Amino acid sequence: MKPSFWAQKGALFRPHPAVQPTIKKLSFAPTQCCCTMQRCVRPGPRIAFRFRGSEGRILNWRVPSQSRRKPLDRESLRAKWIFARSFLKHPVMLGSLIPSSKTLVTRLAQQVNWDKTRIVVEYGPGVGTITTEILRRLPPDGVLVAIDYNQDFANYLSTTLKDPRLLVAHGSAADVEQILAGFGLEGADCVFSGIPHSTLSAEMRSQIFESTRRVLRPGGTFIVYQFTGAVLPQLRQVFGEVDQHFEPLNILPARIFCCSR
Ligand SMILES: C[S@@+](CC[C@H](N)C(=O)[O-])C[C@H]1O[C@@H](n2cnc3c(N)ncnc32)[C@H](O)[C@@H]1O
Repeated sequence: MKPSFWAQKGALFRPHPAVQPTIKKLSFAPTQCCCTMQRCVRPGPRIAFRFRGSEGRILNWRVPSQSRRKPLDRESLRAKWIFARSFLKHPVMLGSLIPSSKTLVTRLAQQVNWDKTRIVVEYGPGVGTITTEILRRLPPDGVLVAIDYNQDFANYLSTTLKDPRLLVAHGSAADVEQILAGFGLEGADCVFSGIPHSTLSAEMRSQIFESTRRVLRPGGTFIVYQFTGAVLPQLRQVFGEVDQHFEPLNILPARIFCCSR
């Protein structure tokens, strides 16, 4: 959306006295300010200005509907960059160059009966693609414990996702029992795992599955998403029956395994 003539670059901008106090407060030169244009000149869209002082030339403009989207895009780009950079450092630990798709995330969330879910554990949250969706569905009195082996991801999550229900732990999924106990929690209604299990040793895989089974409350669900079916025999060994689903709209297409206790 292009603003009309009065907001063109280089135009002299003299704000309405009603908005000047706000502008003065922000006027570290040159900076940005959002001003309701209809209060200054005539009804119209809200415009963001770059200016110096309480009066000055319009150096640049942005329509806020665009500027509101920008920080989100920047954040999502930053998350993707952190993810890709971590993949270059630890390709085996991550197992994927990009986070899960929205379709896969939705499909995973649909496997859970959220009315009966209070304590959720997520192994390998990465930059929080699934974490955010879990928090969106988790009841207000719920708790989500996100465990990642990668320090960069644990730091990123604790600083970007400010939700009192989220507890972030830097550690291994194999230590889920100790981690939950450290937070004063005894069991979980649901555990999600995005760890590339096929790249772990059979012993580590077994340790993770066994301890997950122990922390799951009766009726609890373990949801594992993977690019291959390599984990299936071991999941069956520990949990018995395994429900299987397939999500093609992901890079790479993902297999989803659901086990109950
Ligand atoms: C493919 S990424 C998944 C990221 C995110 N959940 C998603 O779906 O976009 C795998 C994640 O598992 C983590 N990870 C690998 N081994 C782990 C372990 N033993 N315990 C906890 N996290 C682990 C990695 O650091 C990485 O964040």
